[in-house]
Amino acid sequence: MHAEHCVWTIGTNRIKQKSEILLRGASHAFKILATGCMEQYDPRRFWKQTRTEREIAHRPAQKLTMKGELPPKGAGVAEADPVFAKYATLCSSCHAEDGKGNGAAAGGLNPKPRNFHDKAWQAKVDDAHIYGVIEKGGAAYGLSGSMPAWGAVLSKDEIEGLVKKIRAWGKN
Ligand code: HEC
Repeated sequence: MHAEHCVWTIGTNRIKQKSEILLRGASHAFKILATGCMEQYDPRRFWKQTRTEREIAHRPAQKLTMKGELPPKGAGVAEADPVFAKYATLCSSCHAEDGKGNGAAAGGLNPKPRNFHDKAWQAKVDDAHIYGVIEKGGAAYGLSGSMPAWGAVLSKDEIEGLVKKIRAWGKN
């Protein structure tokens, strides 16, 4: 009776083990088949593509890179730097995105928009002068009237931010 019971237990355990292996194998095979078949119908890469396209379409131009692409995550030029966003919209058409003064609208201007990398000019002017020209325009300082007055458009903080930005260009 005792021995018989033992054999029976071992027997059922074997069956249990075997069916478990079979089941596992079957579910594994199913997974491989399913993912393999899904791959070619996988819509996720299209979601990603349309999401990027939609994001580009909804962004104002200054929030994109010069090539019209999304800026790399974390390095979003305009988002990370609101001063640069202002500069890109209001100033870069004349002074250029890199501050060198040869923006798209600079061609017909005489005198040319200031190149902010010009070290001699940087040394000649103080912050108050730069602030004043931005606020009141070139004409108020006996400079070209093509340099508009921005006092009505920009806040004190924004003008101060622009002065800092222009100063930073003077260092390289
Ligand atoms: C329509 C073209 C135009 C735009 C837009 C423009 N500027 Fe100018 N800017 C000029 C021109 C032209 C001069 C050169 C004036 C001169 O030398 O007589 C100038 C000169 C300057 C100067 C130097 C002044 C000096 O002492 O020589 C500063 C600073 C300046 N701009 C800042 C800005 C900022 C900041 C913005 C945007 C908020 C801006 N400008 C937008 C045309 C422009």
